[in-house]
Amino acid sequence: MSQQLATNITWHEGNVPREERERILQQKGLTIWFTGLSACGKSTIAIALEQHLLHNHIPSYRLDGDNIRFGLNKNLGFSPDDRTENIRRIAEVAKLFADSTTVAITSFISPYKEDRDSARALHSAAGLPFVEVYVECPLDILEQRDPKGLYKKARAGEIKEFTGISAPYEVPESPEVHIRSDQISITEAVKKIVEYLQEHGYVSSRQQ
Ligand code: ADX
Repeated sequence: MSQQLATNITWHEGNVPREERERILQQKGLTIWFTGLSACGKSTIAIALEQHLLHNHIPSYRLDGDNIRFGLNKNLGFSPDDRTENIRRIAEVAKLFADSTTVAITSFISPYKEDRDSARALHSAAGLPFVEVYVECPLDILEQRDPKGLYKKARAGEIKEFTGISAPYEVPESPEVHIRSDQISITEAVKKIVEYLQEHGYVSSRQQ
């Protein structure tokens, strides 16, 4: 990969401004940014949320940690620098989806506050809403559940730099939505997020 930065490039605006696109498509774009430890329920809630929105004719699309690492970010590992680059790329992609009037739903551990704040800043500079959803579940419960057996491997030292065990997770200070996934159901979690979206006028309040 070339380390040289691109020069002599020019930004091209389209002929249809975002407001007009939103008016034509009758939909606003935004990004819903899930964050939380591995296996805390981010992806499960994100999948249910995407289904709910689509069934209500709201275009939405999910970008998921494990899935994106099979393709776009297959050259990245779990060092602090790689995680930062992982989140930077996802933030850029989510912003493009949001700009296209889609509800972009991202579910990545995104352990560093600075990286999440950069993702937020990228959206606010573009005038796009950014809704941070912190999915919290106590570590001892995650270790009991351990659906992929990763916590066990991390405790045994077979996986290095594992978030929550041997790598940090910086808890969000003021997320827009806070979900305790050990205390409420997936349906209740989706309802809580949708209510937030409705209260802020991001989606219609008439939903099934
Ligand atoms: S992030 O930290 O860069 O945001 P991301 O969400 O993309 O992480 O990927 C996390 C997923 O990768 C976890 O759910 C888990 O399945 C897997 N994984 C593999 N190794 C690690 C590790 N060292 N730390 C955390 N997750 C890991």
